Amino acid sequence: MAMPKQVNVTQPRARKPVVSIGRSMSKAILPLKAAPPKRDPNVRNPPSASHRILLSCPAKMTATKHDRNAWFKGGIANCQVTLAPGARAYRMVLLGAPGVGKGTQAELISERLGPCQLSTGDVFRAAKTLDPSERTPALTAALDFMKRGELVPDETVIGIVRERPNCLRCPGGFLLDGFPRTAHQAEALDAMLKDLSMKLDAVLSYDLPIDQIVSRLSGRRTCGGCKAVYHVTTKPPKVADVCDACGGKLIVREDDRPEAIRVRMEAYEKSTAPLANYYRKRGLLVSIAAEGSPEDIYKRTAAALTARP
Ligand code: AP5
Repeated sequence: MAMPKQVNVTQPRARKPVVSIGRSMSKAILPLKAAPPKRDPNVRNPPSASHRILLSCPAKMTATKHDRNAWFKGGIANCQVTLAPGARAYRMVLLGAPGVGKGTQAELISERLGPCQLSTGDVFRAAKTLDPSERTPALTAALDFMKRGELVPDETVIGIVRERPNCLRCPGGFLLDGFPRTAHQAEALDAMLKDLSMKLDAVLSYDLPIDQIVSRLSGRRTCGGCKAVYHVTTKPPKVADVCDACGGKLIVREDDRPEAIRVRMEAYEKSTAPLANYYRKRGLLVSIAAEGSPEDIYKRTAAALTARP
């Protein structure tokens, strides 16, 4: 396996784009009427000179950018991805406790190896931008579960992923972040991939002692405007509580409050941690220590992937 190319990432992370939810989403889950986009989701991943894939998107999406519009829109939304000669399409899952740094690594892996970050949490957060009257009961319930730190019911989450087969069969690969989170979701993903005649390459499982996880979560600040992610000590903004990228106000995510963190960690231990065994038995698990800087962890990830047959 060729070593991935290194690229400097200097932009602040803006990985939770505020976007509209399109018409094509399941009626049972999301409403038909979409709110207008509030910002260009492509600011999250400015195109990199050494990016190995070329993108062009027919569904009125911005071409030649590494965007996630098809993931947010669902249904018929489509990206056409052409792999550069010699490039490899990675199809992977990110596992790890809330706050371990999955999103931070997803950003780096996506930028450097090409697979698009498919985060179920991001889809729910984007749906929060809809007017409450436009939300279906299932979606309203999902946002309440999320706010309390509880898992959203399996059928709602599975429906969200099932609605996006174009993202799973993308020739550029994918990086599922936050899905699956339960045994039932893992089995559903297996079935979806089987239907598409596809297989996972690896499940990257990030491990970190609980005290460091809590410190990462409790120090996280997110821009209320562009959704860039900061940390009060490890990645502070230049001006306290103000986003470097857009000048927006930095806020604490609703589910980063202590009571919600506790519930999230319990849900992780009970429902998601056992998935490590599920994937270990299938020869897919790649365990990675999540200590150190994001760059250190990325290097470990790349080395572990390179070492795989
Ligand atoms: P989701 O959005 O998936 O959140 P999560 O899994 O809880 O993960 P986080 O986004 O909180 O953390 P992260 O691991 O990405 O860490 P980050 O990189 O930001 O899910 C949210 C909710 O949606 C769920 O609770 C549930 O309700 C619902 N949901 C979603 N999917 C679901 C599913 N499949 N089933 C059921 N419900 C579902 O880093 C955290 C902080 O640490 C940041 O401030 C960052 O700057 C900092 N940091 C990162 N790396 C480092 C480092 N190496 N050193 C120092 N600081 C670092």
